[in-house]
Amino acid sequence: MALIPSVRGFKDILPDETGFWRYVEDTARDIFTRFGFREIRVPILEKTELFKRGIGDTTDIVEKEMYTFEDRGGESLTLRPEATAPVIRSYLEHHLYQSEPVSKLYTIGPMFRRERPQKGRFRQFHQVNVEVLGSGHSMVDAELLFMLVHLLEEFRLPDLKLEINSLGCPLCRPLFKDRVLSFLEGKSVDLCADCRRRLRGNPLRVFDCKNEECRSIIEGAPMILDSLCEECIVHFDSVRRYLERLGVDYTVNGAMVRGLDYYRRTAFEVTSTALGAQNAIAGGGRYDGLTAQLGGPDLPGIGFAIGMERLISLMPAKKEDFNTSPLLYIAALGPHARERAFLLANVLRKKGIVVEMDYSDRGLKGQMKRSDKLGCRFTLIIGDDELVRDEAPLRDMKAGGQRTVSLKDAALLARELAGTSTEPRTSGNAADNNLDNNQ
Ligand code: HAM
Repeated sequence: MALIPSVRGFKDILPDETGFWRYVEDTARDIFTRFGFREIRVPILEKTELFKRGIGDTTDIVEKEMYTFEDRGGESLTLRPEATAPVIRSYLEHHLYQSEPVSKLYTIGPMFRRERPQKGRFRQFHQVNVEVLGSGHSMVDAELLFMLVHLLEEFRLPDLKLEINSLGCPLCRPLFKDRVLSFLEGKSVDLCADCRRRLRGNPLRVFDCKNEECRSIIEGAPMILDSLCEECIVHFDSVRRYLERLGVDYTVNGAMVRGLDYYRRTAFEVTSTALGAQNAIAGGGRYDGLTAQLGGPDLPGIGFAIGMERLISLMPAKKEDFNTSPLLYIAALGPHARERAFLLANVLRKKGIVVEMDYSDRGLKGQMKRSDKLGCRFTLIIGDDELVRDEAPLRDMKAGGQRTVSLKDAALLARELAGTSTEPRTSGNAADNNLDNNQ
């Protein structure tokens, strides 16, 4: 029968890759905790209306990229294309703002956008997503960017560039929109069909268009930074000052508008020239007013999301850096020895030692080869003689040579293995704790 392949744009993460993913997740969790963030987990499926209202009807995401379907009850549901709207929905639904003045939340997981798949662009992709709700202070913006850069630096990614902009507020942005509209007047015939259509509702989208023609037209357009109101200017200057005090490198890109409609004031993106066409590794910004738009009290907020596939593709780490080779391989010769090996392997595992063995009738040579291939540090060789003597040779696969160890006391053996290894392949600290509890 024919194989059923995975869905286009949906990617498996294979065992050789999962070490990278865990490392990214663990590092992110560790750094976020230091900055006072707590994890929130929200569903993958939400009511379609949440994204329409949250992200904006005239965005590419809502217009053409959402996985939306009617469930059997006739309700329109959507696989989340991003996490900000769901996190805020949950924050409002559970009144988190009542129990803490500022909520610092993060979530890690898959998002879904039906874009055209290409290098660095998938239909299911993963984000590390961070939101701070309840403070509009410019210090929060700067601290969030400091944390983002710090996290990305941990992964030693090449050629990173942080670009920031201010997108203004409901006071100054309408004036800017008018200025852009007047600028585009007369030029609209040369714009792409998408931009022409969006001109009335959201002329800022033209700044985000990838079409060459549109790009060359918008190059001469007025810049939002020249249209900011006094308060937005003060806020942006203050963010920049704090960034400089924190030693965060950035450039101002007045043409950056972001692809989601909820942003106000600070907006930013981190790109890497090493990524190719899909060069944004992270993006985010302030979205004061979104909580009210989603039916809650009017509270300020800011956040970002990192694309995990893109981050991991840039990491210089190698799969050997996430080695999970067993510490011990037990080679057993004959059915009796195999049964003993089977019991011993499982007792040792309970004591925190990473152990592998063979369940087939393979000869010693084959088993040694397998131990070597798995990168095991030691091989314990058990045959009928060893069963009688209750001791067996333990071969050091790295240093060479072997010594005899007793099979009588698994706890002792576990302790010896963990102690003699220069790089113990034990599952965390559990080994030390368990070893004292004898079998
Ligand atoms: P975004 O810019 O749409 O922002 O996505 C953030 C990051 O997700 C991108 O910079 C990119 O690395 C990754 N990404 C987006 N689409 C794809 C894709 N199709 N395939 C692979 N990676 C992708 C947001 O999603 C906002 N919710 C961020 C935010 C949080 N703003 C405030 N809080």
